[in-house]
Amino acid sequence: MNPKKDLLGIEGLGSKEILNYLDTAEKFLEILDRPIPIIPALRGKTILTLFFEPSTRTQISFSIAAKRLSADVVNFSASTSSVKKGETLLDTAKNIEAMKVDGVIVRHYASGAPRILAENLNAFVINAGDGTHEHPTQALLDIMTMRQHFGYIKNLNVLIVGDVLHSRVARSNIFGLKTLGANVAVCAPPTLIPVDIEKLNVEVFYNLDEIIGDFDVVMALRIQLERQESGLFPSAREYRNLYGLTVERVQKMKPQSIIMHPGPTNRGLEIDPEVADGPKSVILKQVKNGVAMRMAILFIHAGGKIE
Ligand code: CP
Repeated sequence: MNPKKDLLGIEGLGSKEILNYLDTAEKFLEILDRPIPIIPALRGKTILTLFFEPSTRTQISFSIAAKRLSADVVNFSASTSSVKKGETLLDTAKNIEAMKVDGVIVRHYASGAPRILAENLNAFVINAGDGTHEHPTQALLDIMTMRQHFGYIKNLNVLIVGDVLHSRVARSNIFGLKTLGANVAVCAPPTLIPVDIEKLNVEVFYNLDEIIGDFDVVMALRIQLERQESGLFPSAREYRNLYGLTVERVQKMKPQSIIMHPGPTNRGLEIDPEVADGPKSVILKQVKNGVAMRMAILFIHAGGKIE
């Protein structure tokens, strides 16, 4: 399969493209368990992580993935760069490309920023989260984790709970899961549901207690306190009472069902600590799969070869 130069979102990807990422990542998972988990697939390539927003999982995971494939990695932080002196995103990127970078992994607070880079750079561009638009690599690792657990995605019943309004993770997961034939629903206070949600072809619920027992996967979203306008829900305590994954509420879930969260978690708000660390949680599996998925994404877009 001939991949597109860039990975900017899941919207518009076909099932073959998504399955190619999943199948390639499954192969790389085995490498991570080797005593020396490194292969020379991207030797001589240079990958830049260009992060204008904070990140733990995504940036570290891409750095580790690139090192596992023997690429050179340069990590860029907006807070210590000349962006602080007024340089534009494009000027920053063009200067970096002049230094012969092969791929740019970009996270930006503005929706659409990765597309601007992709249209102006020869290097491949991977969207590591842009504003409230998409977070494609998170969705791919989430879908990989679901398929690993259940063995299939078609007709899987997935419920996404919480701050759908601000969530690029929810949007990317909805696009990917719907393309692969899953049934997707969202549940949140009306103020945290986007007005045009029906265009995404998902069911919408407001009462979590009535429906939580119907789903195979329950994915809690982080309440994005930094993107919240005041007043979207009355209080953190009320949010937890109605929508939090509490120990009592999780007892209503199906026996084989799983709980996911993209991280970082607000423990005690959208998910209780006992639930995040409990037997249904696959949160750390998501993180491990994230390295394999990012290896697959780098490998596919850099045109890597197994020697
Ligand atoms: N899930 C996720 O994007 O986490 P980080 O913000 O830590 O990268």
